[in-house]
Amino acid sequence: MTDLLVVVGARPNFMKAAPIVLAAERSGLSVALVHTGQHYDAGLSRVFFQDLGLPEPGVQLGVGSGSHAKQTARIMVAFEPELLRIDPAAVVVVGDVNSTLACALVAAKEHYPVAHVEAGLRSFDERMPEEVNRRLCDHLARYLYTTSGDANENLRREGIPDDRVAFVGNTMIDTLVRCVDVARERRIPDRLAVGGRPYAVATLHRAENVDDPVVLSRLTAALAGVSRLLPVVLPLHPRTRRRLEGHGLRELANGVTITTPLGYLDFLGLVADAKLVLTDSGGLQEETTALGVPCLTLRESTERPVTVTVGSNTVVGTDPVRIVSAAAAILEGREPQGSVPQLWDGHAAERIIEHLHASLPVEVELARTGS
Ligand code: UD1
Repeated sequence: MTDLLVVVGARPNFMKAAPIVLAAERSGLSVALVHTGQHYDAGLSRVFFQDLGLPEPGVQLGVGSGSHAKQTARIMVAFEPELLRIDPAAVVVVGDVNSTLACALVAAKEHYPVAHVEAGLRSFDERMPEEVNRRLCDHLARYLYTTSGDANENLRREGIPDDRVAFVGNTMIDTLVRCVDVARERRIPDRLAVGGRPYAVATLHRAENVDDPVVLSRLTAALAGVSRLLPVVLPLHPRTRRRLEGHGLRELANGVTITTPLGYLDFLGLVADAKLVLTDSGGLQEETTALGVPCLTLRESTERPVTVTVGSNTVVGTDPVRIVSAAAAILEGREPQGSVPQLWDGHAAERIIEHLHASLPVEVELARTGS
């Protein structure tokens, strides 16, 4: 019998789930790892398993890409029989991608307790598919593990009882703490010919930024502008590459080094020694906060306000003039000074496993004895 069924599907899930899988196994809990196949390119999925030491998933649902409805529905249909077959004591979902919501919904309807890791984050921007996923998933979950105090407040405001919520810290930072030294040893800045001098790292992939040609062209103009101040490395998500084909790629060609998506260790090694990061990613706002690297968030909102109030993140929107002047300010030494948020200490996954052990004694015991 299986204690925990852990779901992964898309790139940002892997580094959040890895420490949970490893901590569960260390504590003697059995884990079934299910990969929905939302991300299937080797560079968005396989390399992360190698880099993070994650075991091969026991189940591959292989759902692939599609509209939100198609992708979510395909995951649900494929996940249901696997859930019933594995029959775990609890289902663990992480983050806010379509795989997170789809599997949480199936599990809740089949009366399996759902543990949502990274609960309570809110951008208050309903146009973001991730915001819809987060809200719904939190209301389906029996155990909600948060990364910051603001998340607990959001959940309280939405009427979720306090006894379902535990502030445990950030499992993505567990992975960062474990891997950062090995990542630096790979010397990726030298391999990309930006080592030994200040450079910036940029990422862009959010639907609301890259699917709208007007917003995307503002952002390419901003990156071209920043690349006149310092070299910029842009590992390109497949979604963004498709949108940029032609004109956009030519505009960036002069000062921006465009690469394929990087694996976890290469990317972490690149970001760890960057002078500045420009991104619309949620996770990268947290990773730069933990690393003390100034981050400019190319969005109008953030669901991770602690990275702004405590860390070195600034939300700058998509106006090229504002972005370039914020980058210039950082180069002139006027960067926001941050510190590392409470409990982002490399031990969040252990707290989650301890909490699950204490909260699920009956279910885990039944699952373990096979009764
Ligand atoms: C998804 C998540 C987003 C997360 C991001 C990280 C949702 C709603 N969005 O966005 O929160 O920040 O992952 O990357 O779950 N594609 C490939 N190869 C792949 C996967 C996708 O080429 O392995 C292309 C396909 O054209 C696909 C498009 O990227 O249609 C979008 O993929 P999808 O998983 O739908 O969303 P992401 O933009 O990756």
